[in-house]
Amino acid sequence: MSETGKPISRIDGRMKVSGKATYAAEFNQPNMAYAFPVRATIAKGKISSIEDATARKEPGVIAVISYKNAYKLKPLDMQAQMKAGAAFLGENLPPLQDNLVHYPGQFVAVIVAETYEQARAAAYKLQVKYIADKAAVDLKTELPRSTKPKMFMGEEAQVNEGKAAGVLAASAQKVDHTYSTPVEHHHPMEPHATVAVWEGTDKLTLYDATQGVGLTSAIAAYFFGLHQENVRVVAPFVGGGFGSKGLWLHTLLVAIAAKAANRPVKLALTRQMMQTNVGHRAATIQRVAMGTDKAGQLNVLRHHTDTYNNLTQFFEPSGKQTLVLYKAPLREVTYNVAHLDRSTPTFMRAPGETPGTFALECAMDEMAYQLKMDPVEFRIKNHTAKDPVKGHEFSSEFLVECYRTGAERFGWASRSMEPRQKKHGKYLVGYGMATATYPGGRSAASVKVVMNDKGNVTVMTASIDIGTGTYTVLAQTAADALGVPVEKIDVKIGDSSLPPAPLAGGSQTTASIHPAALDACILLRKELASLAIADPGSKLNGSKPEDIGFARGTLFVKGNEDKSDTYLNILNRAKRNEIEACATTLPVSGAGLTVPSALCTPSQTPPEQNSDIKQYAFHSFGAQFAEVWVDEDFGTIRVKRVASVHDVGRIMNEKTARSQIIGGVIFGIGAALMEATEYDKRWGNPVTRTLADYHVPVHLDVPPIDVHFIGKPDPHISPIGARGIGEIGITGVSAAIANAVFNATGKRLRDLPLTPEKFL
Ligand code: MOS
Repeated sequence: MSETGKPISRIDGRMKVSGKATYAAEFNQPNMAYAFPVRATIAKGKISSIEDATARKEPGVIAVISYKNAYKLKPLDMQAQMKAGAAFLGENLPPLQDNLVHYPGQFVAVIVAETYEQARAAAYKLQVKYIADKAAVDLKTELPRSTKPKMFMGEEAQVNEGKAAGVLAASAQKVDHTYSTPVEHHHPMEPHATVAVWEGTDKLTLYDATQGVGLTSAIAAYFFGLHQENVRVVAPFVGGGFGSKGLWLHTLLVAIAAKAANRPVKLALTRQMMQTNVGHRAATIQRVAMGTDKAGQLNVLRHHTDTYNNLTQFFEPSGKQTLVLYKAPLREVTYNVAHLDRSTPTFMRAPGETPGTFALECAMDEMAYQLKMDPVEFRIKNHTAKDPVKGHEFSSEFLVECYRTGAERFGWASRSMEPRQKKHGKYLVGYGMATATYPGGRSAASVKVVMNDKGNVTVMTASIDIGTGTYTVLAQTAADALGVPVEKIDVKIGDSSLPPAPLAGGSQTTASIHPAALDACILLRKELASLAIADPGSKLNGSKPEDIGFARGTLFVKGNEDKSDTYLNILNRAKRNEIEACATTLPVSGAGLTVPSALCTPSQTPPEQNSDIKQYAFHSFGAQFAEVWVDEDFGTIRVKRVASVHDVGRIMNEKTARSQIIGGVIFGIGAALMEATEYDKRWGNPVTRTLADYHVPVHLDVPPIDVHFIGKPDPHISPIGARGIGEIGITGVSAAIANAVFNATGKRLRDLPLTPEKFL
């Protein structure tokens, strides 16, 4: 029976809960020293002086490093970095290379000492003086100086600019509202940390909390002028990332520190530094307008986003879903991006769609109410079976089924269109829903599979398990592709010395590495078969390769199963203690974020003929339903239950998949009700600095979440049929909740998070 799809528990679960799984900060080294960074106290300007004599005399201090004495890294050079696969920094600011300050909390120095406490104590003794310039700290104030970016990650950023106004004006029904979302921080459970170990001057090992060992290795190699194979990055376990664990400056900083100290050095960020040094989701102000005919058919969608960036070209792409959803003949999606002297925004779980579905899906609800149509029926009426911009068919698409199944499971039929109709004691009860969507990305990947003469199998690839279940599902795929039990499969990932895989981002890990794992297993079986066919001692001797089947560790002639031979006997007779195969698979036209150089020779396996983005649009879809109870006296909102139904292709493991959606929905409840990083408008520094004041949902905030998958394999993304699942779960959640709040109270709240004072 197939292992794939079964809800098996994580194969690494026992290691995790018993503390045996080692995270970056736990890779202690002999003779290791500790680094603690010093952060800028101004938002913009320059360092005028650094007095370090006092800090140097502190107990245990080994080195005090600032721009004055730091190792000179290779300068930024986007062309050269692109060539080296090293373009994708969290922020374009190699650390300690000059005296300029670009945001509050920027690293301006690092202390290395014998202990963590000594490094931290000395850091507070370093006297850094600044000349401050006037800083840009507020989005609304800076918008008049914003610009319109031309591109976002290779796509046109401004679509049909200025074209919607006429159609809108002529539409029978229109809505036009402004929605806003705050800064949010990723706050994975495991804070970022790196241990840097130099061997001589040209070999570096980084134990790093990263979503991409290959990415980190390429970037570190570039800036230190090393060959990439000489920078090994190790991350067997990562405690969440959500987009924050690309390469940030502390990783380069600790390598600089280890070079200066000539010892292994550990740098573990504090929770406070997580607010200033590893990215965030930028605030957005979004204006969404739409027009329909009298019957509620959309004529036009317009979605404009105002946001900001600092030290990269990234900006929150909150118009993305507006280019994919609904059958409107015209859509205008535009951006204005201001500059703020604030730490650099980055990808955060469903970048774009998370704030974007809040705005679009609330506006859809407002229009449905205006039309006196049920919000589910309004969406179904305007459903598109094609990518509405590119015109391609979706590779596989069951959004209407998501709406219908969700409505059924949730009990949507008992909702009344008019608000304030349902009460439970003093609580007003409301139902809301929204569409979920996220692209189905896939990148090139290589996987190597080794079987030994005990029948144990090792699956190897430089992928990462950021908590999603990569170990477990890879073991399931290999078990099925080889016909051996899951218990016989060992998975080795999280090491840049393994065959290259894409970073664990963009919900593309499963879609990318499983086709390669499948092909590697097929190649391994072929090897075994050719050994048996050539062996006079085998019952398969002389058989045709195409006639050979496999099951339970055995090859046999199809239709004549007496003619069989076990993997172990084949290996034993061939006097082989192991056999291996490696496969590289790539989508026809790369849709992903990175294309690692192939480790396996292309002749071993032909390129996949799937995932052709010129022929199909690859997207996942879903529907979110929420029930809220609102206490009007206090303005408090409780989410009482959620139904979350998704069309994400084949489900590789019902249990880990469900956990991904639950995690996404909880993330969405946080975004809807509590998460927000507040900044001091005078100095630009974050005033919410820890998890004590950056509120996230706790157990009592999390209601029963009914997760359901359509589960139909995507026939075009790969022979495996699975699209990604890490990000779609958050999309639409905050809109479903805000729409439920309207249904409960009759109040439209358009500014997240929906904290009690917003009711006033
Ligand atoms: Mo995700 S925001 O691509 O880690």
